[in-house]
Amino acid sequence: MTKKVYIKVFGCQMNVRDSEVICGLLEKAGYGLTDSPDKAGIILFNTCSVRQHAEDRVWSEIGRHKDGKIIGVLGCMAQNYKEKIFERAPNVDFVVGPSDIDKVPGIITRVCRYKLPDKAHSLNEAKIWETGGEKRTGDIYHTGFYADKDHAFVVISEGCSNYCSYCVVPYVRGEIRHRMSRDILKEIEEALDKGITKVTLLGQNVNAYSDGEVNFVKLLQLVNRMKGLQEFSFITSHPKNTAVDLFKAMAELEKLKKYLHLPLQSGSDRILKLMNRGYSRKFYLDLIEEYRKIVKKAVLTTDIIVGFPTETEDDFRDTYDALKGVEFDCAYIFKYSPRTHTEAEKLDDDVVKKDKEKRHKLILELQKEISRRKKCENTF
Ligand code: 5AD
Ligand code: SF4
Repeated sequence: MTKKVYIKVFGCQMNVRDSEVICGLLEKAGYGLTDSPDKAGIILFNTCSVRQHAEDRVWSEIGRHKDGKIIGVLGCMAQNYKEKIFERAPNVDFVVGPSDIDKVPGIITRVCRYKLPDKAHSLNEAKIWETGGEKRTGDIYHTGFYADKDHAFVVISEGCSNYCSYCVVPYVRGEIRHRMSRDILKEIEEALDKGITKVTLLGQNVNAYSDGEVNFVKLLQLVNRMKGLQEFSFITSHPKNTAVDLFKAMAELEKLKKYLHLPLQSGSDRILKLMNRGYSRKFYLDLIEEYRKIVKKAVLTTDIIVGFPTETEDDFRDTYDALKGVEFDCAYIFKYSPRTHTEAEKLDDDVVKKDKEKRHKLILELQKEISRRKKCENTF
């Protein structure tokens, strides 16, 4: 088979890993991969729905490909819009949600029967969408495909059950499912056998990890023991599931990076409540005080949303002051973007664009100065 596939990924590290998984499955099925869309007969977009801006970028990118190639939309937008994608982008041939990525090679084969090399017009019968899957089969993680020769992203749990009121993730990726620790360790062992020396454990809320026997801290201890592994880390943590036992493990485990990404989202207790985050500002500040006490030379980064519905100047000031006080090494600052399905969507998006932009800019400037001082480049 000579058909080449080009895959473009949008969004978070989970999507980056999902794209690798898809590449691995495609290679196994005999498809070639290319990093040039011009050389590809099949173009895949692995998409993100977390903010409107992310979706807008995908729509405009899809619109650019009207040259008879096979086009598949995968990931969070696929789940969010399902077959509606075909209405807005008639050039799309198939849509596959995050829980159905194992089906991608089979679907491409089916679509190819209709479309390549010269049957471009019999296409309408061939539109396919798969967004009903609940749990991925474990073997998809074992194709050995990692984009980086030295580093592997390893998924420990899929989905999220926190239902933060602004967040679309539980609706597009489903409730949290944990991989068995045995299977995670096996995947890491396979990666180490291939010469990989660094690993990042991935989940929307890694601290909630449990396979019934092994919890997150235990998993970290098991990974730390693995021969051939030089360094590992994890993302993302949720403050409500983070506790001192994690910090102690971080201090003790010599291969574990002293890096914690702990999204604060807002410094206002009223807004945190509306966001359904499950902690107060004081809880968060006490937590990171412990972190910095227990873990020496600890790096701390965060996510912030400005302009959440009803956010007043005083609420914003609470967030600003929290950032000033904490001095994160890096912070990723986002303007609130209403998402379908979510609880916050029912609230009036009443912080006007101008104020969202002003608040975004103020925090960005503050954080830039802090990051510069702390020598962390990576601030958006
Ligand atoms: N609007 C703005 N930012 C959001 N995030 C998640 N959902 C939204 C939204 N609707 C941000 C949060 C999260 C990060 C990955 O994206 O800060 O931690
Ligand atoms: Fe979304 Fe909250 Fe889950 Fe993060 S923890 S993915 S913000 S619902």
